[in-house]
Amino acid sequence: MDSLKGRDLLSLADLSIDELNYLLDLAGSLKSGMVKLKRNKVLGLLFSKASTRTRVSFTVAMYKLGGQVIDLNPNVTQVSRGEPLVDTARVLDRYLDILAIRTFEQKDLATFANYAKIPVINALTDDEHPCQVLADLMTVKEYFGKLEGVTLAYFGDGNNMANSLMLGCAMTGMNVRIACPQDFMPNPEIVEKAQAIANGNTEVTVTADATAAVKNAQVIYTDVWASMGQEEEAKSRIPLFEPFQVNEQLVELADKNAIVLHCLPAHRDEEITDAVIEGSRSRVWDQAENRMHVQQALLASILESD
Ligand code: CP
Ligand code: NVA
Repeated sequence: MDSLKGRDLLSLADLSIDELNYLLDLAGSLKSGMVKLKRNKVLGLLFSKASTRTRVSFTVAMYKLGGQVIDLNPNVTQVSRGEPLVDTARVLDRYLDILAIRTFEQKDLATFANYAKIPVINALTDDEHPCQVLADLMTVKEYFGKLEGVTLAYFGDGNNMANSLMLGCAMTGMNVRIACPQDFMPNPEIVEKAQAIANGNTEVTVTADATAAVKNAQVIYTDVWASMGQEEEAKSRIPLFEPFQVNEQLVELADKNAIVLHCLPAHRDEEITDAVIEGSRSRVWDQAENRMHVQQALLASILESD
């Protein structure tokens, strides 16, 4: 497989299935220390929302490749004072080798990528979180030894995580069920895209029935009920989302070898109980670690041979 030299990653669907599998294999090799790469490149992080894992794992991944990182906090750049995105994009393009962006609207990310010739990576938008799902797939593959045929059930808000999980599962031959309250279903265009990728060979379903979704599930996944930017709605959402809480009763109904994932940060005893996140099925710390390995693979692949 060719590298991803010079490419953007705005959506998980920007990768072919071969490229996705190549990244997961490369991340595995990097994790076991088999591949060493030396680069002297500069990664910019332009994050308009808070981040712990993505910020630190991208930074460490780049340092391990021999590169440098500049944290372009919008509050201390001209971005927060209203400099047009298209101007910022063309200027940063002249300084940096690659840029990871965390923002609200997917269309702003696409505009930025359009004006910046350097590769742009989606570090989370309201629509997608592809880097997180690369780490999730790596974690599932480590545990089950395969992705094909494994069933993942997601409970909670039909948000960026639900959207990217549908794409990632469909692309890798996993079955995916998204269980959400009726008014919080995932983006219908992404549901359709994932179903088209699965092409009837695997399950991509959306339901408001949590009990039906968990049956035989091997991976139980959840995320916050109100994402960054939706904090004002957080309290009023609680009663609507309670039937989708990942608790011991729900986990009991899954496959007997099921594991539990959460992209973090978690709100204990809201979307997931303390007992489950701290319990024997939880793989959330391995999952968080894998962010660093998949992003190192992504950076190495995109910057290769420059
Ligand atoms: N999972 C994730 O993206 O975490 P951060 O918001 O801390 O980066
Ligand atoms: N859905 C969450 C994911 C955080 C990693 C958010 O967008 O805030």
